[in-house]
Amino acid sequence: MNRPFTSVADLMAEMTLAEKIGQLHQSPNDTHLNAEEIRAGRVGSVICTSSAFAGNEDQERVRARKVNEMQRVAVEESRLGIPLLVARDVIHGHRTVAPIPLGQAASWWPEGVKDAAEVAGLEAYADGIRWVFTPMLDIARDPRWGRVAEGFGEDPYLAGIMASAAVLGYQGDDLAAKGRVAACAKHFAGYGAAEGGRDYNTTEISRNTMRNIYLPPFKAAVDAGVASIMSGFHEIGGVPVSGNRWLLTDVLREEWGFEGVVVSDWGAVAELVPHGMAEDKRDAGAKGLLAGIDVDMAAEAYLDHLEELVGSGVVPLANVDQACRRVLELKAALGLFENPYTEPDLADEVHFSAAAQSAVLDLARKSAVLLRNNGLLPLPRKIKTLGVFGPLHDNGRELLGSWCLDGIESDVVTVLDGIKAEFEIEKLYHSDLPDEASFQARHCDVVIVVVGEHHLRSGENNCITTLDLPAGQTDFLAGVKRMGIPTVAVILAGRPLALPRALNDVDAILYAWQPGTLGGAAVAEILSGTVNPSGKLPVTFPRTVGQVPIYYNHKATGRPTDPYGHGWSRYIDEKDSPLYEFGFGLSYTTFGYSDLQVAPHGDGFYISAQVTNTGAVAGEEIVQLYLRDHAATVTRPVKELKGFARIPLKPGESRPVSFELSRHDLGFYGADEVWVTEPGRFTFWVGPNSREGLSQEILLG
Ligand code: BGC
Repeated sequence: MNRPFTSVADLMAEMTLAEKIGQLHQSPNDTHLNAEEIRAGRVGSVICTSSAFAGNEDQERVRARKVNEMQRVAVEESRLGIPLLVARDVIHGHRTVAPIPLGQAASWWPEGVKDAAEVAGLEAYADGIRWVFTPMLDIARDPRWGRVAEGFGEDPYLAGIMASAAVLGYQGDDLAAKGRVAACAKHFAGYGAAEGGRDYNTTEISRNTMRNIYLPPFKAAVDAGVASIMSGFHEIGGVPVSGNRWLLTDVLREEWGFEGVVVSDWGAVAELVPHGMAEDKRDAGAKGLLAGIDVDMAAEAYLDHLEELVGSGVVPLANVDQACRRVLELKAALGLFENPYTEPDLADEVHFSAAAQSAVLDLARKSAVLLRNNGLLPLPRKIKTLGVFGPLHDNGRELLGSWCLDGIESDVVTVLDGIKAEFEIEKLYHSDLPDEASFQARHCDVVIVVVGEHHLRSGENNCITTLDLPAGQTDFLAGVKRMGIPTVAVILAGRPLALPRALNDVDAILYAWQPGTLGGAAVAEILSGTVNPSGKLPVTFPRTVGQVPIYYNHKATGRPTDPYGHGWSRYIDEKDSPLYEFGFGLSYTTFGYSDLQVAPHGDGFYISAQVTNTGAVAGEEIVQLYLRDHAATVTRPVKELKGFARIPLKPGESRPVSFELSRHDLGFYGADEVWVTEPGRFTFWVGPNSREGLSQEILLG
């Protein structure tokens, strides 16, 4: 029955083929999971969700006691006593919810992202979870795609920095330590390039774009020691990822040396059949394992067919052994053999703790982006008559975002709650009805309208064909504004929305994404000026859905568009420029840039500039470094982010900001898929966003 654990190799020496295959099966924790399967050694890991659309549905809470009971059956009643690995979609928080990852990226604050991951990991751990399916590192250039909410935006460098921060936050440096969980970088790779922005759709990504844009965040996660990788649902250039040996083995294993576990997405191995790559589930199982998927999530292709596939020689036993070894090594690294159970009362101690609340609040404060301000903000803290209106003005669940399985609506500080706590208001009107709002607005000194997206307008499989505010909301804003009252729009959304009409109707726009459990407090503190907004966009905001895909690091083309002039490549019915460019965000103060210097340093360059707070209040500026390589064997983007720094500055204070780039950092993946730095003309920019900045050209010999 049970045996003491000595090593993975010793354990594997005792395992039957069926038991090894059991380790490669990840079972959903719904009604068809039964103790009998665990006892029989047919379950290696469990995903605690009830369906393939966990992010879109209410899920049963996971409790340590329930997990311990499953674990007890595995440890005490299965032949070899191998513990289960229990997984859950902990995407941007567990009980205490942080802003959605797109909002986190807008903070440009990796330390805060790491802290939020650490508290989420601890809360999940306390519920018995040891494997979290996060971070999502899919570069997204199409905001119609609902999962843009779950990633870190459009830039590979920013996403890579956030990837490392998240991995370190979850895993620390010892997976076996209390509170640590295995992270999972997903969805390897290119999933965000779904045609038409429709989830699961085909992608066509050249090897060059794959190497230079889509893969780097995953490489950053691997370099940070991520324990696992989840493969995507999609196909790339005709080869579905579940059967893509180039991606899963040649690149991930052989080039990058990744030694952790590769898990498929939900049912994705079997989806090789509808993709048109496999004849049936048996064929799909063979192709999935041979391509490099160790763990089959929920499809049961391995469970049902691998034994026979090995017996008939289609799949070598060595492939099963290798995958099984990786799973057992992860279990060993997590300390599960020695410590399979979770203290049943730990959740009471760590859930929604002061530390967790402070981590998510700080991140929400730094992630909101001030897009427009004609001087109305910040509002005075004493207001005679205030109107707080809009469909989301007092909502809780919407602030938690789509992938929130364990956040609790009653914990949420809504925008109205936050405003009540932050301001002294003599008379407060509030309503979510447009007619009542316009009726009441006439009595107000100032009006705040909270609009945006329901939490299920973004997230998995929630894609849209218009980027407008949802029906009626633009008119809601216009109706209130018609009363001639100063109006602030607070927008809560899971994606960049195209807002040109709304813009005309308001004096200020604060884009707060879906800001998490304490989001309403953060929003109110920004509206009052207690917190000076400092977030900057991690994604380009289009004027209209027709401009999509639109992203800052595009190619020049032979007939370049000057988005701010009269270029050749253009639209005749809309400007070519975005509504708001990547890296953009306002503050209640202003920052000046001066004295850009680029000096040779080592084999590369030392780039510095002086940044000054030229306004009247303290603030934090996110200083950005961009690069352009003007002529190369493969064309390079018009600008690429190469560094950034968050700099706090008092009024009048000036500080130098510096970056170092090596010769290697000036390179790219060339036509032969090898990293190369080519001599020639480069331009560096240091500035406040991807459009403005001081620039200097250099010649690299
Ligand atoms: C999603 C993954 C998620 C998995 C498990 C899939 O549908 O694409 O991101 O981790 O379900 O819930």
